[in-house]
Amino acid sequence: MNKSTISKSWFEKKYKSNDGSVGYLRLRNEALTRVHHNTAIESIIKYSGGKKFNTFVDIGSACGDFTDLIYQNLDIEIGIGLDFIRDGLVIGDQRYTRPFFAEAKLPDLPIKNDIADLVLAMEVLYYLSEVELNQAIKNICRVTNVEGYVVVSVTLGNGSRQLNEEKILDLFKEKFRLKGKVYEHSLLQQIFHKNIGRILRYTKKFNIVSLRNTCFWLRDNIKIAKFNYVVAKYLLGTIAIKKGLYIFEKKSNVIG
Ligand SMILES: C[S@@+](CC[C@H](N)C(=O)[O-])C[C@H]1O[C@@H](n2cnc3c(N)ncnc32)[C@H](O)[C@@H]1O
Repeated sequence: MNKSTISKSWFEKKYKSNDGSVGYLRLRNEALTRVHHNTAIESIIKYSGGKKFNTFVDIGSACGDFTDLIYQNLDIEIGIGLDFIRDGLVIGDQRYTRPFFAEAKLPDLPIKNDIADLVLAMEVLYYLSEVELNQAIKNICRVTNVEGYVVVSVTLGNGSRQLNEEKILDLFKEKFRLKGKVYEHSLLQQIFHKNIGRILRYTKKFNIVSLRNTCFWLRDNIKIAKFNYVVAKYLLGTIAIKKGLYIFEKKSNVIG
């Protein structure tokens, strides 16, 4: 794997220009980030069979938006968000009361063995080189309890800031079993098709026959126009980003 490394200063720039009013890449209100986070929560609940988690670690927590969402949706007692950019952690700390935030740079994980029931590595592993990746997985395994869960989300592919599915499954196969996988872009496509169906039904209802008239009608109806805008965003995301979410459980016979 030939990865171009994303520099620490690239992230630093992002967080320095973030006044704390919006999410980690000023994307908080964007549909794609919401879908990404909500899909992860729903999938964790689904594929763990509603398992009760007590402790979690969110690696690459940025400004803590997802870290806090975990608290809101799973009945968890202790959670920590880790990131190598201090500015994001400070924003998370100011914005959310429950998670602890601390500085850590993968592949190192300066936390105790067997401490977490749930480890999240969402949109972070593809920043690592091959050597760092192997070291990071070893550390993730070390801090995860037996039968604890690890959730990984990545942008799928072979380019920089991407990982392919074969690689992910290969990295985890020795010590983890795959409990579930979700292709987020497929979900987005389904949403899009459902919404297109709604638009067509509206069109029929108001007897609007041509696409041109439909556009005027949509433009004049602000509510529907907004809805259409969201649909377009979904579609753009569908075309541009293929995301995979993988849910693993640590095998019970694994030591370390
Ligand atoms: C794309 S954001 C993902 C944020 C969040 N996990 C989510 O899915 O919404 C990636 C985050 O990973 C952090 N990151 C990148 N490389 C890292 C490393 N080697 N160690 C720790 N954090 C890292 C970045 O600072 C950034 O906050």
